[in-house]
Amino acid sequence: MRLPHRDAIRLGPTPYEDFLEKEGIPVIRGYFLEDLKTVELSPWKRMGVSGCYLNMGDQQETDAYICEIPPASQTLPQRHLFETLVHIAAGRGATTVWHEEAPKQSFEWSAGAIFAIPLNVSYQHFNVSKDEPVRFLAGTNAPHIINLFHNEDFIFRNPFQFRDRFRNDPDYFRENKRLTVRSWETNLIPDANSFVLDDYPMKGKGVRIMRFGLAGTTYGCHVQEFSVGSRSTFHRHGPGAMVTVTQGTGFAMVWREGEERQRFEIRPGSIYSPGDLMYHGHFNTGHTTMRHFAMRGRSPKYSQDRYRTSLHDMIPFDEEPPDIHPEYLRELAKNGVATEISVVEE
Ligand SMILES: [Fe+2]
Repeated sequence: MRLPHRDAIRLGPTPYEDFLEKEGIPVIRGYFLEDLKTVELSPWKRMGVSGCYLNMGDQQETDAYICEIPPASQTLPQRHLFETLVHIAAGRGATTVWHEEAPKQSFEWSAGAIFAIPLNVSYQHFNVSKDEPVRFLAGTNAPHIINLFHNEDFIFRNPFQFRDRFRNDPDYFRENKRLTVRSWETNLIPDANSFVLDDYPMKGKGVRIMRFGLAGTTYGCHVQEFSVGSRSTFHRHGPGAMVTVTQGTGFAMVWREGEERQRFEIRPGSIYSPGDLMYHGHFNTGHTTMRHFAMRGRSPKYSQDRYRTSLHDMIPFDEEPPDIHPEYLRELAKNGVATEISVVEE
């Protein structure tokens, strides 16, 4: 297949790149981060805690940041016009959200939780433990929004209240309902590793998934599971996906057509981000279920995929590069893990 031409002409930094420079904390790039729980962070003035940015996959659609909140401490209040999905990697605490001049609403979380910040509310994260730090990953669509409006007053000091996105009600963060098979709408997932998922046979035998719409955001995310001895097929799509392993061990492979394949060893805390049109696949080689939390595309309710042609092609199992599956079987054998692998074609 002929790929579209990527224009190499650059007219200088994008508004998002200028913004990142001013934030003054390290930026992790590339396609892989070994462990978000141990990566070194720097003091971050705007957030009032330490952090680092992740702008992975060589793209300008989404980014993420990792923050650590010391025991009995908190972030500075924030408000902005880009969407934010949060995954708590370690610790326990609470988040307070509010519209100006309205009562504050708080909800509690612990390691494994996933939630979204309703768009343009003010919010603050608190570490309630006196001795354990909190570490979290937040994925955002800031690059897209900052490049679109390129006006920081509009994005960070905009008083508009999206009342359709956030209802000032103590039950708001307890709402939870199934939309369809493989999709839910909710505002807080207490634990990515215990949420019950639906079968996803198109992606492979033993693969399960649930897609989430969180707090009215259009930014999509899902939790995916690979049972012991199972793996996915390969697929590719547009840029901006970010995958965080929450349980189990294995490896991931990524490559762009015509380029060399890259393999990443993954465990809880590992993050990988396939670039634009990079094929990627996930392989569980351990003795436990492997799960990941992925932030990507549009949430189920706001997906517009049926109105446009989007490249999302999957390589049938029997058409993938022939050395991949034997490599997986060798890894399983080395670990003494049995498999009845028969990846199902879509
Ligand atoms: Fe993907």
